[in-house]
Amino acid sequence: MPTLRFDGQAVTTQDGETVLEALLRHGLAVPHGCRSGICQSCLLKAREGHIPAPAQAGLKPALAEQDYLLACRCVPDEDMVLEIPSAGTLRTPAEIAAIEPLGGEVIRLVLTPEAALDYRPGQYVTLWRDEQLGRSYSLASLPDEGQSLEFHVRVIPGGQFSGWLAGEARPGDRLEVQEAAGSCVYTPALRDANLLLVGTGTGLAPLWGIVREALRQGHRGQIRVMHGAVECDGLYLHEALKRLAAQHDNLHYHASVLRPEGCSAVDERPLDELVVETIGDFSDWHSYLCGAPELVNQLRRRIFLAGARMDAICADAFLPTAPAKT
Ligand SMILES: Cc1cc2nc3c(=O)[nH]c(=O)nc-3n(C[C@H](O)[C@H](O)[C@H](O)COP(=O)(O)OP(=O)(O)OC[C@H]3O[C@@H](n4cnc5c(N)ncnc54)[C@H](O)[C@@H]3O)c2cc1C
Ligand code: FES
Repeated sequence: MPTLRFDGQAVTTQDGETVLEALLRHGLAVPHGCRSGICQSCLLKAREGHIPAPAQAGLKPALAEQDYLLACRCVPDEDMVLEIPSAGTLRTPAEIAAIEPLGGEVIRLVLTPEAALDYRPGQYVTLWRDEQLGRSYSLASLPDEGQSLEFHVRVIPGGQFSGWLAGEARPGDRLEVQEAAGSCVYTPALRDANLLLVGTGTGLAPLWGIVREALRQGHRGQIRVMHGAVECDGLYLHEALKRLAAQHDNLHYHASVLRPEGCSAVDERPLDELVVETIGDFSDWHSYLCGAPELVNQLRRRIFLAGARMDAICADAFLPTAPAKT
């Protein structure tokens, strides 16, 4: 079995084991999150050894060329020498400019990075509180609005990152922002397409960026934004989306609330029913699905079965950090 050299130690891998699993099994500290090749918080650099192709899927070409790899996707086929990339090469220091309530369990976080971040609306970044604690959050801001970055964070009681943000973090505190990733973005080639933007909870964050970017670029097809929440206060951009829809004939906003007592202008159908019954035939729709993994995966299947092309469905499941295996 291949041997890994990391942080001055030699680690022998087991059959079919990923680099991340092998290093964690030996008690070595490797930052990680989703363990699914999405969040990119397990990025390592190979000093020696062959990098299997799946370990670089989804990485920017510039990173792949410099021998970066995702440890959770790398099943080594020969000995490797690996290291954690130095923070300065991939991360930009940033200061917290604002933390404020948005509605329900959601807070708005605004960061001022030291240098402008290269990103497209709809992408996500990993925010690092320290060397080990990083979590992915979708960008709700537009690069054209200035250098500030906006995020919508659902506060999870006891959550290492979101709980810290809501309880302890203050404006002026510093974080690091890793390079943007993700392919759920708007492109001018879609200007005449019908766009369906579906999000649960803070799954609205990337959609808020995408819808404003599409309108900014003069989108000509229909746009339907569908947001799902458990209670009314979870519709944290309800008024802003209603205002935006009133300003654009081709934009329609739908809200689905599971417990709708006291809400106005909402649909009581579960979000997936609302989506499927409103659109019917998905063959000429381009869909963006963001938020809770179960809903994203279920809707992807239903939309596909209702006529959508797989390459016209963009899905960002907000996978939680996977617990350590015992
Ligand atoms: C690509 C991507 C984009 C994301 N974008 C956003 C975003 O824009 N906004 C946002 O709020 N989050 C987003 N997330 C989720 C985010 O990365 C964190 O997982 C989340 O904020 C929890 O982190 P934490 O450190 O606060 O909680 P942790 O300390 O990781 O978890 C604390 C406890 O809560 C549980 N838990 C974690 N997440 C959930 C959940 N969703 N529901 C119920 N229990 C949970 C954990 O299993 C654990 O037991 C995204 C995730 C990915 C992969
Ligand atoms: S990409 Fe490897 S842990 Fe998320």
